[in-house]
Amino acid sequence: MRFVVLGDLHWDGRCEAAVREAFADLRALAPDFILSVGDLTGGSGVGGGKALREAKALLDGLGVPVHAVAGNHDFEGAEFSTDRENLDDFLSVFGRQTPWYARDFGAWKGVFLCNERFRDHTVQRHEVYLSPAQLAWFEETLARASAPVFVVCHASPLGSGLRILPELHLRGGNAYVNQNYEPGRIAHILLSHPGVRLWFSGHTHLGHQYPDAISRALGAHFVHCGTLHPGQNRDGKRHSRVVDLVGEGCTVATIDHDLRRLDGTLERKIDVRRLGA
Ligand SMILES: [Fe+2]
Ligand SMILES: [Fe+2]
Repeated sequence: MRFVVLGDLHWDGRCEAAVREAFADLRALAPDFILSVGDLTGGSGVGGGKALREAKALLDGLGVPVHAVAGNHDFEGAEFSTDRENLDDFLSVFGRQTPWYARDFGAWKGVFLCNERFRDHTVQRHEVYLSPAQLAWFEETLARASAPVFVVCHASPLGSGLRILPELHLRGGNAYVNQNYEPGRIAHILLSHPGVRLWFSGHTHLGHQYPDAISRALGAHFVHCGTLHPGQNRDGKRHSRVVDLVGEGCTVATIDHDLRRLDGTLERKIDVRRLGA
């Protein structure tokens, strides 16, 4: 089972040739499905329904199923007056009723956690927020899961150990999901229900060349996913993840969108058996 995990696309119509070239290279990798960690649009004054539908068309061009969750910038649609209207439009584009959901993928279960708040934040609007209802569902889903779980969420929880960007808007107050709302809750859930083996996130727009672009903490492995957009990366690297799951073997590879090939120096084999077992 092979899938691509797409970091923050931030589709805004710029750099169209480079973005389309990157998508063609992703298609050539023949993934079974695509995961998007969010921030498909927004961040450069261009967001909302039109940009989202264009981004969805790019994803559909890959010719395989796409699973996407909302990030912070997906809520920047100027035509919407509330977060709920904005989120409902996001869900309608992906043909879904609920922001969060789970799906079986062969021997694995995929759990999709979706940002719910932007305008309604009182502390930091770029913080990824999961409501108490979503967290309760997450905990119940993990309690029932017998298969190993991978999570897709725009950001990682406090304690993940992934690299953050303290000098940019991803500073200490909004680098992690729910950081200003019971910041230890998600770590507690993960430690109480050790079925989560992999957690994919984006949000920082960094490449994969850092040792802490993949971390091991809270009983799981956290995998940061870069961006392929030439105007959005923050360190000159344009990366996407290519993941192969075979039984309990997991290879996390990186496609470099400037080299236009897999970069073998960044390939990591991860033991996804239950940590500590
Ligand atoms: Fe982003
Ligand atoms: Fe983000």
